[in-house]
Amino acid sequence: MNAPLSVRHLCKSFEKTDAVCDVSFEILPGEVFGLLGPNGAGKTTIISTIMTLQDPTSGSIEVFGTDVTKHPRKAKGLIGFVPQELINHGFFTVEEILRYHAAYYGLKVDKAHQRYLLERLQLYKHRHKLVSELSGGMKRRLLIIKALLHHPKLLLLDEPTAGVDIELRASLWQFIQELKKENISILLTTHYLEEAERLCDRIGILDQGHLKRTDKTEKLLQEHSSKKVTLTLTEPLSTVHHPLLKAQGDHHLDFQMPNEMPLSQVIREAHIPFDVIQDVNIKVGTLEDVMENVLSHE
Ligand SMILES: Nc1ncnc2c1ncn2[C@@H]1O[C@H](COP(=O)(O)OP(=O)(O)OP(=O)(O)O)[C@@H](O)[C@H]1O
Ligand SMILES: [Mg+2]
Repeated sequence: MNAPLSVRHLCKSFEKTDAVCDVSFEILPGEVFGLLGPNGAGKTTIISTIMTLQDPTSGSIEVFGTDVTKHPRKAKGLIGFVPQELINHGFFTVEEILRYHAAYYGLKVDKAHQRYLLERLQLYKHRHKLVSELSGGMKRRLLIIKALLHHPKLLLLDEPTAGVDIELRASLWQFIQELKKENISILLTTHYLEEAERLCDRIGILDQGHLKRTDKTEKLLQEHSSKKVTLTLTEPLSTVHHPLLKAQGDHHLDFQMPNEMPLSQVIREAHIPFDVIQDVNIKVGTLEDVMENVLSHE
């Protein structure tokens, strides 16, 4: 079976910038793939070339085996796209926008599906409002409904939770997980690394147009992050020896250890009496560490 998305040796140069340089990756069915990187790394440019809004300078992109440059209309029919920029269709209501969008794809409005999406994204009661009357977060939800109206099997989400409040963000995360269960494949860009850590099966780290690393989220966390543990002591200990000990003071011991290593193992190995431990502070390694490591080292 053809992969939902296959990007091969993609390059995109603008007059002054090489925005995307020899980027290759695939997304598998039902997979959430995160494309992460600093501002200007090339994330939106990659998504724009997939959507044929930009022509690649070289390389190829296939969506379920369909080449997007050769068959743009067919390819775009298979994709749901949530752009980074909010577009203001000020003179139309929410329902009208959805009707025009369905017409663009040559679809009859699937009323039941439309209602389901409006309710699921909490816009049903706003359906008669002009788009210009919606708040920023509501406009972003409308973009998500538009993207899903034609039952796509591949979804491109370019910062879908930017400007969305905490409660709604959590409900969008749940929604993305539901879509994944329906075997919809998702390409997600986000600057919220906690969001990427929760949602993404695999992550590609992009920097100045180059894909530095692509791997399973868990593997990146294992390789590029560690748990920092500080033990506060009731009384000073004589010198403690342990390979993972980073600092020792009269009233504290700082360890750095693999995320999955149990603290009890280190306490036992370092012969620290339980009675002298007054408090424990644990900072588990996150994708933030991974990004810092990968972006600074390579
Ligand atoms: N239409 C364009 N014309 C010229 N340069 C462009 C154009 N679009 C993007 N660029 C440049 O390409 C590079 C990549 O931009 P892109 O928008 O893809 O970054 P991004 O990773 O999406 O960043 P952000 O996190 O800020 O959304 C930047 O240097 C940008 O200035
Ligand atoms: Mg962008």
